[in-house]
Amino acid sequence: AEVHARVDDILDAHEGLEGPLLPILHAVQEAFGHVPLDSLPRIAERLNLSRAEVHGVMSFYHDFRTRPHGRHVLKLCRAEACQAMGGDRLAEATQARLGIGWHQTTADGGVTLEPVFCLGLCACGPAALVDGRVVGRVDEARLERILEEVRA
Ligand code: FES
Repeated sequence: AEVHARVDDILDAHEGLEGPLLPILHAVQEAFGHVPLDSLPRIAERLNLSRAEVHGVMSFYHDFRTRPHGRHVLKLCRAEACQAMGGDRLAEATQARLGIGWHQTTADGGVTLEPVFCLGLCACGPAALVDGRVVGRVDEARLERILEEVRA
C-alpha cells in the first residue's frame, strides 16, 4: 500500500507532462531502487497505455530493474574494445562462477551482474565496475579477487 501511495505521488507529479512514461519509470526506480512489478498496471492505467506497452518500454531500456539488486553490483564492459581484449571469455567465466546471467542476482542476494557499454577504460580492457569503482585489465585472477571481495 505504501508503494502504491508513493507511485501515485510520482504519477501526480508527472501529470500533464508530455511523454511521461520514461521520467515516471526513472522516478519510481529512484524511489525504490527498482520498479516494482505490481506498480506497472497502475502506471499503465494512469497513462492510458496497455500493460504490454509499459512492459515493452521496461525491457527495452536495460536500466530498469523489476527486482531490487544484490548487495553488490558487478558490471562488465561489453563494448567492442573490451570484447577484443577477452571480454567475452571473462563474461562467460563470471557467469559460470556466479551461476547467473545478465541482470540476475545470486541466490544469496550477494551479487547482481550487469552489462555496461564502455567505461572509458578501453586501453585497459576488459574493464569492470565493482560497486561503482572502475577496475581495468580484469583477468581471471583479478576476477577471483573481486568476487572474494564482494562476497565478504
Ligand atoms: Fe570497455 Fe571502453 S570498451 S571500457
